[in-house]
Amino acid sequence: MQAIVMTGTGGPEVLVPREVPAPRPATGEVLIRVEAVPVLYPETQLRSGAFPMAAPPPVVFGFQAAGKVIEIGDGVASDHLGRRVVADTAGFGSYAELVCVNAQSVTPIPDGVSAADAAAAVMSGSVALALLDAAALTGTETVLVEAGATGVGSYLIQLAREFGAARVLATAGGPEKSRRARELGADRVIDHRPAQWTDDVRTDSDPTIDIVFDSLGGPSATALLATMTPGTGRMLSYGWLSGEPARVTAADLIPGGLTLTGCSGPAWHERVARSRTAILDRVPSLAPPVETTLPLERAAAAHELVESRVPLGKIILRPGPAPR
Ligand SMILES: NC(=O)c1ccc[n+]([C@@H]2O[C@H](COP(=O)([O-])OP(=O)(O)OC[C@H]3O[C@@H](n4cnc5c(N)ncnc54)[C@H](OP(=O)(O)O)[C@@H]3O)[C@@H](O)[C@H]2O)c1
Repeated sequence: MQAIVMTGTGGPEVLVPREVPAPRPATGEVLIRVEAVPVLYPETQLRSGAFPMAAPPPVVFGFQAAGKVIEIGDGVASDHLGRRVVADTAGFGSYAELVCVNAQSVTPIPDGVSAADAAAAVMSGSVALALLDAAALTGTETVLVEAGATGVGSYLIQLAREFGAARVLATAGGPEKSRRARELGADRVIDHRPAQWTDDVRTDSDPTIDIVFDSLGGPSATALLATMTPGTGRMLSYGWLSGEPARVTAADLIPGGLTLTGCSGPAWHERVARSRTAILDRVPSLAPPVETTLPLERAAAAHELVESRVPLGKIILRPGPAPR
C-alpha cells in the first residue's frame, strides 16, 4: 500500500511517499480503508522534532484518519464491519491507504457527514468541547480565545455561547484571520502579532476577562493575568504556539486569586476522546471544516501549507486515485 513515511525529524521533506506492507488487524483491532487524513498543527511540531515521537523513524506518520472498516481482528464485534469511522492511531500510522487501530479508539461518523468533514473537525472540535466543559462557564462571563481563526480556537468561538459565555473576545494574526474570527462569532478581535498585544485586551466595555483559553503560552500568558477577574478568573492552558509554554508561577496567581489549569496528559486526552461523538454530531451546524484536499503523496506540501499559517480550514489528504 502507499503510505507517507517519516524518514527523520526535520522539514516537510522528511515526509516521503513509499510502498509499505499492508497492515493486518490483530486481536481487538479493526482494519480501515482510509478516505481522509487531517493534517494537524501538532503533527508539524512532531515532524520538526519539537516533541518526541511515539516510535523512532522511519515510521508511517500521522495521528488520525477517517474511512470504512473493511476487516476485523479476533474479539471484535462483527457489527464494526462496514462502519464509517474516525480513528485515533495513538501517534503514528494514519498517513496511509490502510490503517489498523484498536476497535475501542474508533468513533462512528454520523450519516450525512462526509469522511473529510469528520476528519477535519474531530481533533480541533473535541479539544474545544473538552475545554468548554472544563471552563464551567456561568452564563455571564467573558472569555478570551487565543488564535481564534483556525483549529481549536475556531470551535471555541463557535461553541462558547452555547456553553455559557456572555461575551467572546478572540485573538488572530492579521486582518484576514481577524475577519474570520469575527465571522465565526467573536465580539471583538485583537491582533496577536505585535509583542505587546495584551495591552489592547482591556477596554471600557471589556473590564475583565473571566476565562482565557491559552494556546499561545509564553510571555503573553503571564501578561494576561492582569486583565483577569480577581477571585474567579481561570486560565486553561492547552498549547504553546509562541514556542514556549506559559511560565506562570503561584506568585503570579495568588494575588488575584486566579487559577491555571494544564490541559494535557492521559486524563485530559481521555476527556477529549469522550467528546468525539458530540463534535461529529455537531458538524452540520458548524462552519465547513475543510479548506483543501490534496492527494496523499503531497503530504509534505500539506505540511508546508499548514506551517504557512495561511489556511483558514483543515488540509485533508486523500489516499488512492482522485474521485471522478
Ligand atoms: N492540549 C491538547 O489537547 C491539544 C490538542 C490539539 C492542539 N493543541 C495545541 O493547541 C495549539 C493550537 O493547535 P490547532 O491545531 O488548533 O492549530 P491551528 O489553529 O490549526 O494552527 C495554528 C494557528 O496558530 C496561530 N499562531 C499564532 N502564533 C503562532 C506561531 N508562533 N506559530 C504558528 N502558528 C501560530 C496561527 O494563526 P494566526 O495566523 O492567526 O496567527 C495558526 O493558524 C497548538 O499549540 C497545539 O499543539 C493542544
